[in-house]
Amino acid sequence: MNYRHAYHAGNFADVCKHVILTILLQHLRQKKPPFRVIDTHGGIGLYDLAAGPAAQTQEHLAGISRILEAAPHTSLPSAITDYLDIVGRHAPHYPGSPAIIRARLRDSDRLVACDLHPADGESLKRLFVGDKQVEIHIRDGYAALKAFLPPPEKRGLVLIDPPFEQTDEWDRLADTTLTAVTRWPTGLYALWYPVKDRPAIWRFHEKLAAFCPRPVFYAELTVHPETAHSRMYGTGMILINPPWQSDIAIEEALSALLPFLDIRGGSVKTGWLKQEEAKA
Ligand SMILES: C[S@@+](CC[C@H](N)C(=O)[O-])C[C@H]1O[C@@H](n2cnc3c(N)ncnc32)[C@H](O)[C@@H]1O
Repeated sequence: MNYRHAYHAGNFADVCKHVILTILLQHLRQKKPPFRVIDTHGGIGLYDLAAGPAAQTQEHLAGISRILEAAPHTSLPSAITDYLDIVGRHAPHYPGSPAIIRARLRDSDRLVACDLHPADGESLKRLFVGDKQVEIHIRDGYAALKAFLPPPEKRGLVLIDPPFEQTDEWDRLADTTLTAVTRWPTGLYALWYPVKDRPAIWRFHEKLAAFCPRPVFYAELTVHPETAHSRMYGTGMILINPPWQSDIAIEEALSALLPFLDIRGGSVKTGWLKQEEAKA
């Protein structure tokens, strides 16, 4: 396990992923019954952008730092201002997915997060020590997910945000999700993927469209045109069972982010891989 998210914290992919996460949390909060979020690949939860790995790579300069610089002079959709509110509350650090989720839990809601990396898992545990609404596990998030479903609250979100270090990650992500959906068909699922290897994305989309029994939506933002790239040039998210009209909010938010994140000739693409089947 070489991947450490601290090198990439606050980059353009984190911004898009975390804005989408904020939109999903807004929807979950609209209904009164409690919800649970399961974050299978949590990272360390809080990142110092001014020192250490993030300061070394400076990926945040083309991500959150650019948005923060522009925000005071720009009119932004509420999904982005809500996300920036969460980011601002964690300053001078940048919040990872568990911190963003925790910021939007009500007293009755719960977060369960995993990270397999021993040191990163310990950091995440320390961040939430004594917090009765949060459970942290240092274990394989894919294997743990099976044990966590269906959640007692019967509503909520599964976020799967793997590092894509291993060549079988696409299949593991798709297969684990398909099994999870059979155990908990009404859950909301958000799966992150890198835009780099287009044929791998086609195969991943095709598999989900063919075998997922529930509606599947995707959203991508690229920062370069779609030509051969050796590095990640875009960020993608699959949503299964997206809440009503969240597709519109996501398209609007990514389109508003694009002018700030774009490097040269990027674009936003969204669409349904599978829609709800009409009832007979
Ligand atoms: C992309 S980062 C997660 C970032 C985090 N979700 C966020 O948005 O702030 C992926 C994380 O997964 C962890 N990881 C790698 N393989 C794992 C596995 N099988 N189960 C759980 N965590 C894993 C890595 O240690 C890394 O911290």
